[in-house]
Amino acid sequence: MYFPENFLWGGATAANQCEGAYDEDGKGLSIQDVLPKGFKVITDGPTPDNLKLKGIDYYHRYKEDIAMFAEMGFKVYRFSIAWSRIFPTGEEAVPNEAGLKFYDAVIDECLKYGIEPLITISHYETPLALAKKYNGWSNRIMIDLYLKYCQVLFERYKGKVKYWVTFNEINSILHQPFMSGAILTPKAQLSNQDLYQAIHHELVASARAVELAHRIDPNYKVGCMILAVTIYPLSPNPDDIIEVMRLDDENYLFADVQARGAYPYFAKRLFEEKGVQLEITDADREALTHTVDFVSFSYYSSNCASADPTKGEPTGSNMTTNLKRNPYSKVSEWGWQIDPQGLRYTLNRLYARYQKPLFIAENGLGANDTLVPDGKGGFTVEDDYRIKYMNDHLVQVSEALHDGVDVMGYTAWGCIDLISCSTAEIKKRYGMIYVDLNSDGTGTLARWRKKSFDWYKEVIATNGESLKV
Ligand code: BG6
Repeated sequence: MYFPENFLWGGATAANQCEGAYDEDGKGLSIQDVLPKGFKVITDGPTPDNLKLKGIDYYHRYKEDIAMFAEMGFKVYRFSIAWSRIFPTGEEAVPNEAGLKFYDAVIDECLKYGIEPLITISHYETPLALAKKYNGWSNRIMIDLYLKYCQVLFERYKGKVKYWVTFNEINSILHQPFMSGAILTPKAQLSNQDLYQAIHHELVASARAVELAHRIDPNYKVGCMILAVTIYPLSPNPDDIIEVMRLDDENYLFADVQARGAYPYFAKRLFEEKGVQLEITDADREALTHTVDFVSFSYYSSNCASADPTKGEPTGSNMTTNLKRNPYSKVSEWGWQIDPQGLRYTLNRLYARYQKPLFIAENGLGANDTLVPDGKGGFTVEDDYRIKYMNDHLVQVSEALHDGVDVMGYTAWGCIDLISCSTAEIKKRYGMIYVDLNSDGTGTLARWRKKSFDWYKEVIATNGESLKV
């Protein structure tokens, strides 16, 4: 295996999917508090069927959870800060000290075990008030509100935190404008003009955050984060090849700006064809030149695309639209195609495009787990399917490293079971730690080590040598 000595092995979570305590210690509502079914339904306010309101009670159990991450040998732990814990409506002049104290404690707990925190500043959890008052990122005012929030974090955690990510899966706004961009206008009624102007605001905010972070602490490393929608042509028909090129351009435009400092060459035609005329100021252009230190991404699956929408079988992937099944890929229980080699391919493509260190911020298998006695008076899950998924993907990471790609690290998504993002279920579990929580909200919330817990511990301890080719 080709993992470098300093490879950052770890796991990842997001505040809204694990913390719970949605209204404790002064937290304001976030957009997730009105999404009880994932991104499909928006309610007026929090409803009892929203499992995220209680989450896995990480807010009160983070010490126990981080101790288990340390037991697995994590070098890095990626988590997000809930913006509405720090600025409950996004517009307060002074941050909420109780919210900050919680993250002080989480960070100190990581550092106690020598775990490097990697913080996502915004992971689908914009304060709800900003969605209601400004229609989220469609309004330019969001840039300053976001930077005010960033400034508090960068100043507070100087010397403690090194790695930051500005926006989770920034390109997912193309598919989920509310969850990703806090835009309340229904997707079907959202014009390309408004969508791309919102995207522009996020890109400027991200770049200005990079500049601010480096100004506050030159040791900070700030990354972008994209949903790597890896797409293959459904057939060798040149029409399909061009369709994939077009979809890739739409997806990579985000990281192109964040990693290269300006809109890419193809943006002019893309905007013309979409009827978009961006409002870009000179100050925006200057801001965009502040590029990220690394490019991070999530990778779960690959898909196919065809120029002819009637061709091929639709995939179960619900983060994206109009993608097709690959007859060569297996699928998860949730219909997500499984393609470990696609991760090697993605790493190579991104590295060729950006020539910046890459970080695999999310990868994993969402599956139904069955709790069984562990023979020692407790419980476990025999999750060989998860071990296989992770093993096969990590082997491909090693291949990419062998190819010469600079990969900084890998954080397994939902290293502890948490509430799913797209469907708000608990039964779609990714963790190496089982959480005793049922779909109806009942359960003891006890944590149990799955078989994958010991497996991952060994992978980390051997720096990947225990992986099976
Ligand atoms: C990513 C998100 O898109 O996929 C995570 O950043 C999410 O928040 C993960 O949980 C897996 O998706 P899901 O819908 O299975 O939870």
